Amino acid sequence: MAILVTGGAGYIGGTVARSFLSRGEEVVVLDDFSKSLPASVPEGCAFYEGRSDNGELIAKIAKEHEISACLHFAAFIEAGESVKDPYKYFYNNTASSLGLFHALMDAGVKKIVFSSTAAVYGEPKYTPIDEEHPKNPTNPYGLSKLFTEKILETFSASYGIRYAALRYFNACGSDGTGNGEDHHPETHLIPLVLQTAQGIRKQIFIFGDDYPTPDGTCVRDYIHVSDLASAHLAAYDYLMSGSPSVSLNLGNGSGFSVKEVIETARKITGHPIPAETVQRRPGDPSVLVASSEKAGKILGWKPERRSLDEMVASAWEWHKNNPNGYGA
Ligand SMILES: NC(=O)c1ccc[n+]([C@@H]2O[C@H](COP(=O)([O-])OP(=O)(O)OC[C@H]3O[C@@H](n4cnc5c(N)ncnc54)[C@H](O)[C@@H]3O)[C@@H](O)[C@H]2O)c1
Repeated sequence: MAILVTGGAGYIGGTVARSFLSRGEEVVVLDDFSKSLPASVPEGCAFYEGRSDNGELIAKIAKEHEISACLHFAAFIEAGESVKDPYKYFYNNTASSLGLFHALMDAGVKKIVFSSTAAVYGEPKYTPIDEEHPKNPTNPYGLSKLFTEKILETFSASYGIRYAALRYFNACGSDGTGNGEDHHPETHLIPLVLQTAQGIRKQIFIFGDDYPTPDGTCVRDYIHVSDLASAHLAAYDYLMSGSPSVSLNLGNGSGFSVKEVIETARKITGHPIPAETVQRRPGDPSVLVASSEKAGKILGWKPERRSLDEMVASAWEWHKNNPNGYGA
């Protein structure tokens, strides 16, 4: 049996694919390189270049490999861009997922682990955010993922597919096997701060320091990518054992502020990392912290790499060794 990983040349999909490979599983990666490069395809997998909604290609893959389940990472991920160009997000994230699920069902693949996001919740009404929290995304990216969750929920009821929708908070770090975060463009705080330490950027911008948080800057929940990988292994095993569909938060449970991230990066890199405070960005909630209690109960999962030092240090190790990402 093989596991189909869409978006497996990307940051999280690549890390998860490597974890499955190192457990001895057969992995098939499908990626169109719209946001990644051939150099990031995990070694040891079967690889197909193409779009996740290419029904003919999915049928061909299913003919050539016996697919037990699909881990669906392929998507665009920039919330800011999704506000400027929502069509791009509804098309690539929602419509393409619909096409993929249809092709998977045609091929008899009925187990799906879906990469959802904390962005499905929108402005928090309370923290830590649990799975029952109201879902009111504040941008089309979050909406595109919520719509996809709804499709899965409906298909689960009507067609008997089973899924695990995993709502990641802020993924970060490196798994130490040569895989790291290399988005184009980069919009995530930890890699941006580390690129400033490398001289790739002149300074880091802090968007607002007048939030109702201890140091005035926004607080986020960072989850190490290796902890995301262990959650995917557990979610796959959960579905394979015949358990029902489920939606789960994956976070660290602790919040770290923008200033704390910058300070930690200064300590770890030994670089002063110039920072400038500018105006708030519209739509940035002050605090986003996950409750992952449900994932603990259902999957027996808990994050192991919870300190900010450990998360930033592992990301720095990768950035130091790969100053041009996968592009060099
Ligand atoms: N990075 C985070 O902090 C974070 C947080 C929450 C959720 N997520 C979700 O996790 C998933 C992976 O995120 P990432 O950070 O690894 O992103 P990434 O951009 O590194 O990886 C996405 C991969 O999917 C590929 N891709 C995109 N659209 C495709 C399509 N239609 N067909 C085939 N391939 C396609 C890209 O080329 C890329 O390799 C996404 O679904 C994202 O929404 C990420």
